[in-house]
This record gives sequence, C-alpha cells and structure tokens, in this order.
Amino acid sequence: MKQFVIALLAVLLCPIGSAAASAPAADDLRPRFLLTGAQSRDSQDLSGQWTYSKDLYRTGLTDINGWVAKSRMQRYRDLDVAAEEARATTDFYEFDMDRGPLVAIPGAWNAAVPEMRYYDGLVWFQRRFKAPAPDGGRAFLRFEAVNYKAYVYLNGKEIGRHEGGFTPFVLEVTDVLRGGDNRLTVGVDSTHDAQSIPTFITDWDLYGGITRPVRLIRTPATFIDDAMLTMQADGRIVGEVRLQGDKAAGQAVTVAIGAVATATAKTDAGGRAVFDIAAPRLERWSPDSPKLYDVRFTAAGDTVRDRIGFRTIAVKGNQILLNGKPIFLRGISLHEEEFGPNPARNMTEQASRALFTEIKHGLQGNYVRLSHYPHSETTVRLADEMGLLVWSEIPVYWTVDWENPAVLRKALAMQAETIYRDRNRAAVVLWSVGNETPVSPARTAFHGAMADNVRAIDPTRLVSAALLVERSKENGEDVTVIKDPLVDKLDVLAVNTYAGWYGNDTLDALPALKWRVPADRPLILSEFGADALAGYRNDGMKKFTEEYQAQYYRQTLAMADRIPTLRGLSPWILKDFRSPRREHPVFQNGWNRKGLVSETGVRKEAFGVLTDYYRNRAKSTAGVP
Ligand code: GCU
Repeated sequence: MKQFVIALLAVLLCPIGSAAASAPAADDLRPRFLLTGAQSRDSQDLSGQWTYSKDLYRTGLTDINGWVAKSRMQRYRDLDVAAEEARATTDFYEFDMDRGPLVAIPGAWNAAVPEMRYYDGLVWFQRRFKAPAPDGGRAFLRFEAVNYKAYVYLNGKEIGRHEGGFTPFVLEVTDVLRGGDNRLTVGVDSTHDAQSIPTFITDWDLYGGITRPVRLIRTPATFIDDAMLTMQADGRIVGEVRLQGDKAAGQAVTVAIGAVATATAKTDAGGRAVFDIAAPRLERWSPDSPKLYDVRFTAAGDTVRDRIGFRTIAVKGNQILLNGKPIFLRGISLHEEEFGPNPARNMTEQASRALFTEIKHGLQGNYVRLSHYPHSETTVRLADEMGLLVWSEIPVYWTVDWENPAVLRKALAMQAETIYRDRNRAAVVLWSVGNETPVSPARTAFHGAMADNVRAIDPTRLVSAALLVERSKENGEDVTVIKDPLVDKLDVLAVNTYAGWYGNDTLDALPALKWRVPADRPLILSEFGADALAGYRNDGMKKFTEEYQAQYYRQTLAMADRIPTLRGLSPWILKDFRSPRREHPVFQNGWNRKGLVSETGVRKEAFGVLTDYYRNRAKSTAGVP
C-alpha cells in the first residue's frame, strides 16, 4: 500500500507535462548483461585497424522512401564482394567493407581522417576476426563506448543497438559467433538532435566513432554477470553478486578480499547472492593512501577479479566527510581528450596518466570533475590507483527535452549504465545530475527523477549538480545567490560562476563580491575560468593573455575564500580542448582556451596560481578552514 501511495503522490506532485511522472523503476533500467569486471576476464581485444565506409545518407539502413535499404548498399551483409563480382552475375554492389580504407579503432574519425574532420553522420566500420569454435559456454561483445548510436551486426545478423556515447554495452553473440572467420560490422551515427543526451548544442567537439575498446568475451554457460562490494558507515562490507545462466540459482558464491576477509553466500532463485561482512581490519582508501585490495569472486566454476578500495563518504552539516573526517576537494575539471594537437578521444592509460599526473603532482590536487559525460573505465580505474576523488556526470547539459518521457528514460538508463560500471570504484564519490540547466518545473522534476534513480541504484554516494547562479540586489548590495528548487534534492551544492570573464565585472571587483548560499550544505565551485592563449603575454591586462587568466584566478580564489561553506573547487579546466564554438582566428581556432595548460601541455601562468593555493589548502588539517 505504501508503495502505491508514494507512486500516487509522485504522480500528483509532478508538474503537468513533466516526463518525471512516468519515470521507470531503477530495476527496469538494469542492462540485460553487465559483465562487471570484464577487464579481469580472458578476452579478445578487437582494437586495431578496421575498414570503414561513409554513409551520410544512411543508405545502409533505409532506402529513399524509408523502406529497408537496398541489398547492394547493406554494409553489414556477410559477403565477399570481390568474390561475388568475380562471378560476373547481374548483381552489383555500392559498398565493399573488405576493400575499404582503414582507420585505427578505438578513436574518433574526426581526428583520424582529415576529410572527415567535421563529418557528423553515419559511418560503417568492419573488423574481420578469427574465434575459437563454440565450447558450450557463452560469448559476448562488450563495447566500452560508441558515440552516439550503434547498430551492431555479426556475420550479417543484427545483434543489437545502443544509444549513448559514453557508456558500455554488452551484446550476446553465442548463437551467431563462428569457429574460424567472423565479420563484425558496426554502424555508428554521431548525429545528435533535440531528443538526444546531450543534444546537438554542446561546447565540445564531435568525436564520432568507436571511441573506446571492443572485446569478445567468453564465459561459462552459467557466469558471474555482476559483482559489487562497498563499505558501510560502520565499516561493514556489503555487496551482491548476480549470476546468469541455467544454473544461476542455489549456487555457492565466495568473495575473498585480499587476505583480510572471505565470505560465502548462496544465490536465490533469481541468481542473486548478497553479502554482509562484519567490519574487517583493513586500510581505508583515500587520496593520500589509495589502498586497493585484490578481490576475487567465484561461483559455478566462474571467477571475476577486481581491485577495490574501501572508504566512506558522507555529508554532515556543511562538511564533506571522507572516512569520517572533513575534506576539501582540491580539484580541476577535465574533458576526455588526450594531450596533443589532434586528439581522437582515445583515452589510453598512458594518456589518462599524463593528465592525472598534472592534477595530482602538478596542481597538488586530490579531486577531478570528469565532465561532462562518463569518462572511460580506464580513467576511473586510474583515479582509484592514483588517489583522485571523482565527480561523475552524464551529459544532461544546458538544455534537454525535459517534457519527453523517452528522453528521461535515456538519461536514467545512461545513469544506470554508468553506476553499474563504476560502483566498485572508491574514487567516485559524487554523481551529478546536470550541468547549467535553466530552471523550470519540468526541468526540476526531470533532475529530481535522476536524483531518485541514483539513490535507488547506489545509496552510498553523494548527489550533486552544477547549477547556475543569479545576481540580485539585496539591501542595495549586489549578491550572488542560488535560486534553484533542485537544491532540495542535492547532498552537495555546486555552482558554475564566471564573474570576471563573462559579464562586465572587473577583476578588481571580484574579491568583494558577496554570496548568499544555504548554510547547511557543502558548496563546490564546479566551474570558473578564463581563456588564455599559451605564450600570449606582455600585452597589458587584456583578455586571452596569460596575465589576465592568472589575475582572474587570484581574484576569484580570494572571492571563493569568503564563502563560508566552500568545500571544494573544480575550475574550468585543466587543458585547452576542442570546441567548434570557439572560432576567434587568433586566440582560439576551434579550441576553448580556458585550460591551465595548452593542448600540448604547456603550463600557463595561472597553473602556478592554483598550485600555490592548493599547497596552502593541503597544509591545513583537512584543507578546511
Ligand atoms: C560552461 C559549460 C562548459 C563550457 C564553459 C565555457 O560553464 O559548463 O562546458 O565549456 O562554460 O564557457 O568555457
């Protein structure tokens, strides 16, 4: 009855026309297969040279009248075109995936193929590969990310589709995979529209393609699909393991946490085993001591391994507590772009380590905002290893079709895919539900449904959102305030503020700017920043000079220090990044220049300003005044 009343209230309280009234339950959003811990399984990495075929008019999917595509254009056919042509029949073809040009996968086509720099549409990719004969187990393809829609075919048969450019998806190929030669064809459509997440309006580059690794994974007939452990506030270790397969029910599941604890539980009829382990003596994870334990899950002859750190994160009044102690988040924002003049969003461990080294050992940071979308699993695992706390978000960014239930479902599914992928990562402490979205009843209900979804799937982490601020006159004074009903759904408040860059505030005025924010909640400045072209100096205090950016940081940090509930910063942004919105021919040329370092890693003067500030913050006990 209680659930019914809650559901009824949810409908009655949701604004008319909001999509939130029809939000699906969290369990409905669980992907069919997860293969958590895939990185520990034997797999066949399908990275490498793939052929490709542009398809700007989508002829491989639909014909001119929306009918099924002509077979002579169906790129996904399991066909040796050259051999067919040698038979000189009446058939002819307007594609040949075997003789097409080659491109390196993973990576975006915009960087790999000069004439495709600004291509935004459908491209077909093909990879031929040999696989061992089926062995009675199961076979899956796991894509870590395809931006933006994926149409996946194996040996001419469609095996699945996915929408969303930054989260993994797993497709079963047990019955289609051949012992010997296989033909994998993936249609990738980078197009975004008013119903996509994000929409086509962003401040980052296109990066279309198979942008993260693809692997063929074989499992036993009954296998461990998901395995999660987390530390509770009282130190207990709780978690669950889910099996899939004919023999998933009634199986003994064992978890071993290094040499500190082991436990066994039995799966229920649905293949789910839950664990509740008395608080073991273990070293907690923290940025200063990022201890990870080798954890092994075994059941039904299957084994999955993970490296997991154990810590607690909470809010108490206006403090953020890590392992029960107040902490100040010394951070920076980051796009998923490797250093270099022509990034392909191919975030290898080496590329990610180069960026994180600048944050951890350059800036003296302990925190990173992985904006504005889920970054690669490689990056999040590296944050675990190096000791950087993480703000994670999906690209509900600027404006989204708030009143469309299908769009809300996409957002909630994207959140679920992110959380199930990363909930064993100690570094992830904040799930953000939005960035700079204009306040309206439908938008607030949409974000509220996202916050509810996060808490239903993962009640152990904090919920935030990067909000817009307003300037208002109070008693004749100019005050910066947060006028956003969404604050009631957030554990940690966060705001983006650009006074001194956008708008007409002078840098001299910044330290005296007054703020009025809720006293009972921690506040993060999730963005502030100014453009500077590396090397543009000695031209007075003009915008785009390094001197202006450095002084902007000094003045903004002085302003920030006067906010009594300030508990963290993630200035915008570590590195200059590609954006087609930024076209000043002298200072930008398609780059957003708010980085503290250039795209090739040249540090600007402001880098030192923030480093000095963080060194001082780190000296106080928890960095909290
Ligand atoms: C916004 C937005 C960023 C953008 C930045 C800018 O706050 O969140 O994605 O790049 O401002 O204007 O540079």
